[in-house]
Amino acid sequence: MVKTTISLIKADIGSSPGHVTVYEPLMVRAEEMMEKAKDENLIFDFVVFNAGDDTELLLTHDKGVDSEEIHKLAWDTFMILGKEAREIGLYGAGQDLLKDTFSGNIKGMGPGCAELEIEERPAEPLLFFAMDKTEPGAFNYPIFQMFANPFNTAGLIIDSKLHAGFKFSVMDVYEAKFVDLVCPEEMYDLLALIGAPGKYVTKYVDSKNPDLGRAAAISTDKLALIAGKYVGKDDPVAIVRSQSGFPAVGEIVEAFTLGHLVSGWMRGSHRGPLMPVSLDYSQCVRFDGPPRVVGLGFQLKNGQLIGGVDLFDDPSFDATRDKCNEIAEYIRRHGPFEPSRLPLSEMEYTTLPAVLQKLEDRFRE
Ligand code: F6R
Ligand code: MG
Ligand code: MG
Repeated sequence: MVKTTISLIKADIGSSPGHVTVYEPLMVRAEEMMEKAKDENLIFDFVVFNAGDDTELLLTHDKGVDSEEIHKLAWDTFMILGKEAREIGLYGAGQDLLKDTFSGNIKGMGPGCAELEIEERPAEPLLFFAMDKTEPGAFNYPIFQMFANPFNTAGLIIDSKLHAGFKFSVMDVYEAKFVDLVCPEEMYDLLALIGAPGKYVTKYVDSKNPDLGRAAAISTDKLALIAGKYVGKDDPVAIVRSQSGFPAVGEIVEAFTLGHLVSGWMRGSHRGPLMPVSLDYSQCVRFDGPPRVVGLGFQLKNGQLIGGVDLFDDPSFDATRDKCNEIAEYIRRHGPFEPSRLPLSEMEYTTLPAVLQKLEDRFRE
């Protein structure tokens, strides 16, 4: 059976105005470059989209995960876009491109990356999610809902193909260590960890059925300890497989209907509700937010992405969006007070330490 690799690679290469959204002509530039890579048979298919100020390259190919060729394609594309963004005068041009020269793998260089290599089923529904103004742990809640909570995913109870549950691989982002936990057997242990999304981040979900294999992959790259050190948050992406042994499309998107509170928002330093939006609203405005998630769905066939749908472009998510606006309004009224502002432990990687430094000598016993 032929294997297909799906790579979702993203970077903030510059935006307008401020950190609001990607500049449309640069997305067109990215599409031109991906079209060329397709002509050269480097990739099978692609989609370029944006989540707020992040440019997202969705690529299918047969080069496997961690392919140097594919990572270099994404890196070179982001470098060109970053350079053009600088010339145009976009804000934060090249902000996620932390290194000068490509070193074989895009991980640890600034961009984020989620990848899956799968044996395509005869019909392979694939969903993609990208968030802006939040951190990879923001996926902990919806991924748990999809793959472990029977109140969200009916199939866990009533479909024998899902009934055995799933295995979660969780990363401790401070220690750069992984632990595998199976659900439902170890659900309480899993929740003990992923309920703290600033430290424990779900990286992969696997079916217990070896014929089905990997079910989901989430990016954790900036967290993947550039030079062995935790370097703060990064807007994450995820790839989720669906149907016939995996959660249904409707069960997967259902996981985003709480508008759950995530860390990020203004200056990466506040809590806010994660609002599911269509691509038309993939721009972070109010208080640089609220944090947003966009979702795209396709059928994958021989590496081609067929029949794309903008998943949250649907009135059935209006109630969630209304609730998010209400929560945003309430929490904003707290201004600089916790829990609107993040706890000090999470402010360590922001600009706050420099502000506090000047008071250091003024503390009396
Ligand atoms: C959050 C984010 C924005 C910026 C804010 C300040 O992830 O990107 O909220 O932190 O707009 O940006 P600077 O420091 O570039 O003026
Ligand atoms: Mg930005
Ligand atoms: Mg961003």
